Amino acid sequence: MSLAAPVSDTARITTAPDPQVTVLDAGGQYCHLITRKVRDLGVYAEIAPSETPAANLIGRKAIIISGGPSSVYESGSPTMDPAVFSLGIPVLGICYGHQLMAYLLGGQVDKGDRGEYGFAHLDVAEYGPLLAGTGARQQIWMSHRDVVGAVPPGFELLASTDTCGIAAMADDARKLYGVQFHPEVAHTVWGRNILTNFLFGIAGCQTDWNPKDRIPAIEARIRDVAAGRNIFFFVSGGVDSTVAYTLCLKALGAERVRGLYVDTGLMREGETEYVRELFASLGSSGFAVEDAQERFLGALEGVVEPEQKRGIIGQKFVDVQEGILQSGPFLDGRWILGQGTIYPDTIESGGTAKADLIKTHHNRVAGIQRLIEENRIIEPLSLFYKDEVREIGEELGIPAEFLHRHPFPGPGLAIRCLCSEAELPIQEISDGWIVPVHSVGVQGDSRSYRPVLLMSGRANWEANYLDATRLINSTTAYNRVVLMTAANDGPVPELYVTRSALTAERLDRLRAADAIVRRLCHESGFEGQVWQFPAILIPFGTARYPDSVVLRPVHSVDGMTAQSVGMPDALLLQMNQELLKVPGLCAVLYDLTHKPPGTIEWE
Ligand code: XMP
Repeated sequence: MSLAAPVSDTARITTAPDPQVTVLDAGGQYCHLITRKVRDLGVYAEIAPSETPAANLIGRKAIIISGGPSSVYESGSPTMDPAVFSLGIPVLGICYGHQLMAYLLGGQVDKGDRGEYGFAHLDVAEYGPLLAGTGARQQIWMSHRDVVGAVPPGFELLASTDTCGIAAMADDARKLYGVQFHPEVAHTVWGRNILTNFLFGIAGCQTDWNPKDRIPAIEARIRDVAAGRNIFFFVSGGVDSTVAYTLCLKALGAERVRGLYVDTGLMREGETEYVRELFASLGSSGFAVEDAQERFLGALEGVVEPEQKRGIIGQKFVDVQEGILQSGPFLDGRWILGQGTIYPDTIESGGTAKADLIKTHHNRVAGIQRLIEENRIIEPLSLFYKDEVREIGEELGIPAEFLHRHPFPGPGLAIRCLCSEAELPIQEISDGWIVPVHSVGVQGDSRSYRPVLLMSGRANWEANYLDATRLINSTTAYNRVVLMTAANDGPVPELYVTRSALTAERLDRLRAADAIVRRLCHESGFEGQVWQFPAILIPFGTARYPDSVVLRPVHSVDGMTAQSVGMPDALLLQMNQELLKVPGLCAVLYDLTHKPPGTIEWE
């Protein structure tokens, strides 16, 4: 079994092989990307804290030190046990890992003040086993400030870029390698070959990983942990909890697995029915819907402030779940709780505080706390990444269409339905109009609410995006830039922010608009080209048409950063036409803001 960071669920003992590769975590997200790429190459890898003692890494075939945003000279920056370099195990340092290796082995790291971000060209001086078979001048992806100024004793230079003299280095005798660039990202064209060279050519790893093959072991583990008890889940209709639930269903049979779904009244059109049918098709007889619409909508009546809305919804979830736990048999010794936790959510893998919050806000439920304390919890997917969970789901017969659905936030349509306490005028400025709704954005690490700029647009997307990016970078007066693509009423100076609350009527309006957006995206195939596509209702219009809808299609990898995506003209035209027929809708707006500074959601 693994000696490095244990995963909370003891599942790994039987559901995964001993890791051949440990990725030492020097910076969160970077680390997950590397681990995913290694697993993608068929080699099981796990993450461990950067300071894991060398003794705990004995037995690995290879060690990778991840990138990260720090500088080796900052106090408190990630470091590692230097004895790792003397284990005789091949080590690859990437980005920050490359600098840390140079620093600890007696090379020199120079502080950079400008840094280098994005595409660069790597010129290879010496291929060695690491760069064997790759291009002499190759496109790579860089993201760093400091640079290695001198290689440590025993190392030789492999490659450079125009601005980074030591972009790759090697000590073949000790099998130690460092690269300043990121071989794990798709923009580094030979990245996959370089990782393959390291894992198979240098370290002698063998392929041992295909998530689908683990299903029998996961099911055996579920039977073991359940030990005759039943399992219940709070299912959301999301991918992770559905796949975890289905594994339990297959392992224990329909009689012993219950799924409880809370209908908050903040769902999209047809969602509850869709989820009910999905669970029926999976052979679940223990799926139940708790109708909590009145409780949620009642508690939200008259509430306008976004963060207050979120707080109330979180608390309501807690109340409703606690009610279910107290009124059912779930707290007696015959039941344990199943959860859809996946690898990046686990603390051991450097899971982010935000992921914890999102996934486990229901951990505040007293009944659930008790189950956790009593260790009556099972997380069958806690070693897997999202794409691996999808592969497992596919193998279990869950429809691909469901497994590839866009993410949807837990608080539902409530955070896509903006409200305003008062009627407010818009204000004309040289670049357009300031619309005083409160939309959330990210500046640094904190969320802040600002108005929105309605830009007077130009005829082509490219020019609009350039203008929007220039404008948003030049001010803190607003945190988003939108364009008007169609309107029922106007002209713009006659529109204003309307007084509005979270009413059933407005939620129905948003549901109708969202259903149009989803249907057209699905029919046109645009759905597959974006990562997420929220439609947001904002109180902007006239007495006759009090609301407008904002289109927010984005590209993203993990939701942490995102780019606004332009839409084909024909699709936009059709969407505009259909949306303007929704009663009460004044205009269609298009959000041109990337994240940062504009979050994906508007609240
Ligand atoms: P933002 O708006 O922060 O969103 O750019 C990033 C991703 O997180 C989703 N999101 C949530 N998901 N509960 C969730 O389950 C929430 O409270 C929540 N808030 C944002 C959002 O849809 C996007 O995918």
